[in-house]
Amino acid sequence: MPTQTVFITGAAAGIGRSTALKFARSGYLVGAYDIDETGLASLSKEVVAAGGRVVTGVLDVTNPQQWEERLKEFDAESGGRLDILINNAGILVAGRFEEMPLEVHKRQIDINVNGVLYGTLAAFPYLKATPGAQVVNLCSASAIYGQPELVTYGASKFAVRGITEALDLEWAEHDISVKAMWPLFVDTAMTKGVSTGTTNSLGIKLTPNDVSEGIFKATRPSRRVLHKVHFPVGIQSKALSLGSRFSPAWLTREVNRRLSHT
Ligand SMILES: NC(=O)c1ccc[n+]([C@@H]2O[C@H](COP(=O)([O-])OP(=O)(O)OC[C@H]3O[C@@H](n4cnc5c(N)ncnc54)[C@H](O)[C@@H]3O)[C@@H](O)[C@H]2O)c1
Repeated sequence: MPTQTVFITGAAAGIGRSTALKFARSGYLVGAYDIDETGLASLSKEVVAAGGRVVTGVLDVTNPQQWEERLKEFDAESGGRLDILINNAGILVAGRFEEMPLEVHKRQIDINVNGVLYGTLAAFPYLKATPGAQVVNLCSASAIYGQPELVTYGASKFAVRGITEALDLEWAEHDISVKAMWPLFVDTAMTKGVSTGTTNSLGIKLTPNDVSEGIFKATRPSRRVLHKVHFPVGIQSKALSLGSRFSPAWLTREVNRRLSHT
């Protein structure tokens, strides 16, 4: 059996780093990419010390040319396999919509949405050439219902949800499945110092390890009869997504109004 491979963006810290370590410990050749070179260097040391294999490189997910270059380099190392692409890089800026400069709104869309589009598009030939390839997109529980003080961030994750659902259908003919992970708040640099209605009412309960374990599990071969696209992480996210599916729209709004203290 050839070595399985995984290409992870935003791998220098938080969920991406934890995911890189999890896959490396499980025998994968890991491609770890980020704009943070220092973080990548320390990740590389940690992987090698644990006996794993990692390729690192600078990749700003908003730069289509860098995507092409990094994927080509990884392909040369991986013997032509791209088993899993994990679109993890993302940013979150919390605050009132009208007080946030336009540039900040645009930056969140550029990294969280365009980054996923550019990367998934550039990775297509490599995914297509690998039997049973998978794409995992980091969605968020903030895409279950629009979140005050996280308007643009939440909207970016609604877009990621749409990309995931549509591509999972469109690429089935190429034997590529596309999945979305749905954590609620996770204790990483992203949520440090963030204080919104929902972070205060629901707390920041998940660890990066909870999410990387969830990603690993979601990407295992499954005997599931029903095809699964969405993977909530943690009890809160499971309860919120289940609730929103079965409660009437007015009740979902009311629950979100109360949780966000608006
Ligand atoms: N932390 C949470 O509460 C939470 C909840 C749900 C979903 N998510 C999603 O999980 C993903 C990872 O979040 P995290 O909490 O680990 O964040 P983090 O801030 O801890 O790490 C994000 C990583 O992405 C990198 N990055 C930022 N901009 C980049 C760019 N343009 N190109 C490449 N890399 C870039 C950063 O350098 C960093 O290493 C994001 O997509 C986020 O939206 C996070």
